[in-house]
Amino acid sequence: MAYLEWSRAFGARVSRAHVQSLAGRAGELASRLAGELEANTLPFLRMGYVEAIQRDMPALAEQARKYKNMLLLGIGGSALGARAMQRAFAPGQDMPGHDGRSLWIADNVCAVTLGEWLTRLKPEDTVVVTISKSGGTIETISQYFLVRQWLQKALGDAWKDHMILVTDKEKGFLREEARTYGLGSLEVPDNLGGRYSALSAVGLLPAAYLGIDWQALLDGAASVARPLVENPASIKDHPSFALACWAKALEEYGYHDLIFFCYEPLFATYGPWFAQLWAESLGKDGLGTMPVPATGVTDQHSVNQMFLDGLRNKACLFLTSSKPVSGPVFPEDLPEGWNFLAGKPFASLLEAEGMGTRMALTQCDVPLVHINLDNAGEFSGGQLMMLLEAATIFTGWLMGINPVDQPAVELGKRLANARLGKPGYPKEEQDLAAYLQVPEEKQSF
Ligand code: PA5
Repeated sequence: MAYLEWSRAFGARVSRAHVQSLAGRAGELASRLAGELEANTLPFLRMGYVEAIQRDMPALAEQARKYKNMLLLGIGGSALGARAMQRAFAPGQDMPGHDGRSLWIADNVCAVTLGEWLTRLKPEDTVVVTISKSGGTIETISQYFLVRQWLQKALGDAWKDHMILVTDKEKGFLREEARTYGLGSLEVPDNLGGRYSALSAVGLLPAAYLGIDWQALLDGAASVARPLVENPASIKDHPSFALACWAKALEEYGYHDLIFFCYEPLFATYGPWFAQLWAESLGKDGLGTMPVPATGVTDQHSVNQMFLDGLRNKACLFLTSSKPVSGPVFPEDLPEGWNFLAGKPFASLLEAEGMGTRMALTQCDVPLVHINLDNAGEFSGGQLMMLLEAATIFTGWLMGINPVDQPAVELGKRLANARLGKPGYPKEEQDLAAYLQVPEEKQSF
């Protein structure tokens, strides 16, 4: 059974009573939720796009599965969900001797990596999926130009069979490309922002390519969303709303770091996915809590010292699962001093260390909500994504900010465009010139 465990969620500075008083805003949020569902401004929750996915995606996924490699071009919300699902449900690519399908996610501007991938991948064995909701993100589109040229050089006109686009249904450069060249494409639904799009074609096409049970991901997500969609008033009892009230209280009481401590190792890349969802949605108007992804047990020997005894500004979402124990078992003939491990499954270490870390955190006054997944399969993965997405939206509403935009990150993008000489950025050009005029103060080392 999937559950949230709340017994350690409160402490000296964040009281149960205060969180319950915030829950008094359930009626207000229920009305807003009803209105937004009606206006279809929360498509990730309503999931009305699923029919189109079920209709259009399988054929393209089958076409993609003819190829040994998928090269995904995308960034932010257009990449992180796919990586989380790949690592959790199709980890084979990281295993010795892997010779099945491989997914390569190009979500950075790294000339060395892209150069190596284009040298080592064979165009005839590769399908490229370019994912951009806006169809105009410079990091993605610049890679698209390079990869398109790479395909064209090797395959001539057949390059078009190796390119699939996932983008807005009408607008943007990628949609124009799809029309111009008759490329295979899937739609990102209206109003579905990148960081809420993992369970659309954005994440599900790569998942389907890898043979991940994408329908189970959708079913898991729907099981969490359904009560809210069918009866917005049920928000008052929904775990996502409980998390939102808690998160809002944390922020008010100076718990400014929210650790996402993952003790289900294959789910470790859900950490960066959650971090982007939370940070880009809630870092607004001088408010918000900083998501800090961490992996158990690895980070017990890294950042955990800071969690336990650093600045007292931390709270924690602690992720485990009730997955049946599997894997290696310790031999019976262990040396003296180690024989307490004899005959135990290796996995028992994870359970014990998870328990130890959870207790240590609570003893160090880190308010902690324990999220336990059922079997850590695709259904669980979908449940977790929906729970955290809904919690993020409701936290934003309680904070009085807009959790679906990201105005601050636009500034750096405009300045980069000005730096590259793109026309239409006169103000940014001036700002850039002023910035560069400040004398540098370099210190060699
Ligand atoms: O969550 C978001 O909206 C962003 O992180 C986007 O996913 C990211 O900027 C990429 O945008 P796009 O999909 O339009 O290329």
